[in-house]
Parts: sequence; C-alpha cells; structure tokens
Amino acid sequence: MTILVTGGAGYIGSHTVVELLNEGHEVVILDNLSNASVTALSRVEQITQKSLTFYQGDVLNKAFLQKVFTDHPIHSVIHFAGLKAVGESVEQPLRYYENNVTGTLTLCEIMNEFNVKNLVFSSSATVYGDPASLPITEDFPTSATNPYGQSKLMVENILSDLYQADNTWNIARLRYFNPVGAHPSGLIGEDPNDIPNNLMPFISQVAVGKRDKLSVFGNDYNTHDGTGVRDYIHVVDLARGHLQALKKLNTNPGLVTYNLGTGQGYSVLEMIHAFELACQKPIPYQIASRRSGDIAACYAAPQKALTELNWQASHTLEDMVMSSWHWQSNNPNGYSD
Ligand code: NAD
Ligand code: UD1
Repeated sequence: MTILVTGGAGYIGSHTVVELLNEGHEVVILDNLSNASVTALSRVEQITQKSLTFYQGDVLNKAFLQKVFTDHPIHSVIHFAGLKAVGESVEQPLRYYENNVTGTLTLCEIMNEFNVKNLVFSSSATVYGDPASLPITEDFPTSATNPYGQSKLMVENILSDLYQADNTWNIARLRYFNPVGAHPSGLIGEDPNDIPNNLMPFISQVAVGKRDKLSVFGNDYNTHDGTGVRDYIHVVDLARGHLQALKKLNTNPGLVTYNLGTGQGYSVLEMIHAFELACQKPIPYQIASRRSGDIAACYAAPQKALTELNWQASHTLEDMVMSSWHWQSNNPNGYSD
C-alpha cells in the first residue's frame, strides 16, 4: 500500500517510516522541514535499504497536496505534521492554530477530494489535562490548558464531526504519552532545534556535555519521590503502534481513539538515574521551582490498544535510555554533525 506520511522527516515520523518500509509499504513523505533535516530520510534509507519518495512542502498548500495525491495512489495518510512546543504555542497562538488546525483541515479537504478516507492522527495525552485519577482510559474527560493542547483537541473534535457527517471515513486518533529513545542503529533520533523543552533530550544533552546541568521542575508533587511522573514510551514501540492502527483502519472501524503508552510511570529522578547507568557518568541536576502548566503524574491505561490493535509496548526503560544515549553520543549535534 502507498502511505502518505506528513511530517515524516521528524522524530516520530522518521521512526514510523522505518517500520512502514520494513513492512513493505510504499512511503511518500511530505514535510516542510521546519523542524527536521533531510538527513534523517537518507538515514532511514540506510537503515532499511529501501527507497522512499520525499516532497518538501507544506500541508497548508492545497495545490501542492493535489499534486502529491495526483501523482501517487495513496491508500492512507499518517498525519504527524504539526508544531509541538507548548511554551512557543502560548507566545504564538495564531501560528499554532494555523499550522495544526488549518493544516489538518486542508489535508482532510484534499483527502476528501481524492476519495482517500483513511487517516491516522497524532494526538497527545495532553488532551486529558490534569486527570482526576490514574491510569487514564480513553473515555476520560478532555481539556486543554495551552494553545498546543487546544489545537490537538480542536482537531480531535473536527475529525469526530467529519466522521459524523460522512461515515465512510476511517480515522484513528492516537494519543501519545511521552515518546523517548531512538532507533537501535543510532542513526536516527530526536534532534531539538533549540534548548530542549522535554526531559529526555535535555538529560542527553547534559550527558554529552552540551549543557551544564538539568533543572528538575519541582520535588514537592504528590508522587513517590516528589518529582513529576510520566509514561515514557520508546519511539520504536510508538512507531509500531501506527502500523497496527493502519491495519485496524483496513477493517473499516470508523472513528477510533487509542492511548499509546506503556501503563508504567517513572519520576524525573528515576529517569535521571536510569540515564546515569546508560551513559556511565553522573548527570548534574538542581531542584528548581515547578514549571507552569505541569501536572504531578500522568500514565496510560494501555489495555484498549492491546485488545483492539493487538499492540503493546515491549521496550524497557533501559532500552529507552540506552538508545537515547547511543543516538546522542554518536550524533552530539544531531543531524548537523
Ligand atoms: P517533530 O517536530 O519532530 O515532527 C513534526 C514534523 O512535521 C517536522 O518534521 C516538521 O518539519 C513537520 N511540519 C510541521 N509543520 C508542517 C507543515 N505545516 N507542513 C509540513 N510539514 C510540517 O515532532 P514529533 O515529536 O515527531 O511529533 C509528531 C507529531 O506527534 C506532532 O503532531 C506532535 O504534536 C505529536 N506529538 C508529539 C509528542 C512528542 O512528545 N514528541 C507527543 C504527543 C504528540
Ligand atoms: C510536555 C508537554 C505536553 C506534550 C509532551 C510531549 C508541557 C507543559 N507539556 O509534557 O503538552 O504533549 O511534552 O511532547 O510542556 N522536566 C524537568 N526538567 C526539564 C524538563 C522536564 O524536570 O528540563 C520534568 C517535567 O516537569 C515533567 C517531566 O520532566 O515532570 C516530563 O517533562 P516533558 O518531557 O516536558 O513532558 P511533559 O511535561 O509530560
């Protein structure tokens, strides 16, 4: 099958493309490279020994999308393209809504025009806001506290409306927990543009000597050691979840929603200590004040994805930190090395 992957040069996209090519799919990637390097795609080809088709362009550009859909017999679309920095979204809400919401509207409009109605959408556990209890099941109430989260929630609602209006669509809304780690080859991984916002890339940049120390945002949460607890999921497990979602769409399920997480929460201090074991050196850190908008703890109930997608995470915490370190130590400056 030919799969169109928007944002396929990015972190999760590139890992998913590896799995798609390994399964024998034809892959067409569309990415504006606003947060990615084309080197990731040559590395994907190196890993898989298969070739892919790449278009540099924007999901907001209708004429460009029409050309891509005209030139390829696209069966399904995996839509990763989006902006993802929470703090930036607070400063530039219009840019985030335009890119994430209008971008998805434009894509769906062109999919409709070409009668391509199988879509996998990258949503986030952020749509659960501050959950009333744990673990989080898919039927928990949703909310958003920043424009990034709002854009994910708006798209989720738009996709639901689209399905109500035309139930020939098959749409999987995948709510990712905290993706970390890298491909075992060490050739592709997460390569943040600027100072990392997220924990794992920050820790690995401290380990490689690019940053002096990590700030731990709060040690007075109601968790076992006072630091924030999250459900970290290996990016290769996450990538495989997309293949299972595509298989599900082929059974005409309509609109479906799944958590992609492990069900296991780790604290910030546990992540630091696990990373220290992987890189065999201490990670200097200081306790800082809480980060605005953060919640104490968040982890998934992953059973629905197991039952309905036959998918569950198989990588351990050790796999996550070892692969992150392998990538970071081989590529201290990411793809610009
Ligand atoms: P990423 O930034 O590495 O990948 C996104 C890709 O989309 C980049 O390659 C970027 O260049 C491209 N892109 C952005 N806007 C575009 C546009 N208008 N047209 C074409 N290409 C565009 O991010 P990622 O971590 O791989 O995340 C992928 C998706 O998953 C995003 O939608 C993100 O919001 C969502 N998500 C990510 C996380 C996470 O922690 N990484 C968690 C939950 C959800
Ligand atoms: C963040 C986003 C969320 C997004 C998710 C995945 C915020 C408020 N939330 O979630 O919307 O879906 O990323 O991209 O940005 N931490 C530190 N020091 C650091 C960095 C993080 O102590 O330098 C702590 C955080 O307080 C948190 C944990 O590490 O307890 C994980 O943080 P992070 O990786 O940013 O992910 P989330 O906050 O879960």
